[in-house]
Amino acid sequence: MSSTSDMNRRKFLEIGIYTIGGSIAAVSGATLAGFAIGPSFNAQRAKWVEADAGALPGSDGGFARVILKYETKDGWLTREARTLAYVRRNKKDDLIAISAGCTHLGCIVTWDEVQQVFKCPCHDGRFDAEGNVLSGPPPAPLKRHPAKIENGKLYVSTATVPFGGETSEGV
Ligand code: FES
Repeated sequence: MSSTSDMNRRKFLEIGIYTIGGSIAAVSGATLAGFAIGPSFNAQRAKWVEADAGALPGSDGGFARVILKYETKDGWLTREARTLAYVRRNKKDDLIAISAGCTHLGCIVTWDEVQQVFKCPCHDGRFDAEGNVLSGPPPAPLKRHPAKIENGKLYVSTATVPFGGETSEGV
């Protein structure tokens, strides 16, 4: 056997080993990366949460404070989330559920029964009973939660939509 033939065989085996090794590394890496970061790309789906609002106030009776408790997933972590909404029947006798999250920097607004306004404690933003901005830095009205009554029970969605936005079923 010539040394040239040995060299060719050795070279061929080297290339084969590197190719197989590289393929295994690529498949393993892609699989591990999928396990590691895949869950963070899972979209959080909105949920309808059954809420006990007692007797819902009408348009002249303030708001029921409804705390939505639900599980949320953040990557691999599952935790309980809580969201506050202000719910009542509006003049047309359908539901209005206003998100308590201020549209400025997200502080929690409170309803002032005497002044009939939502007040934000952080930068003194003010909103009317529909969630429209009255004063302060908030750039937009308070958001709404889709809400419905089924079989006598109140359901409020964890989703929020801009005031005047679509509130279709399933959000
Ligand atoms: S966070 Fe509400 S006014 Fe700034």
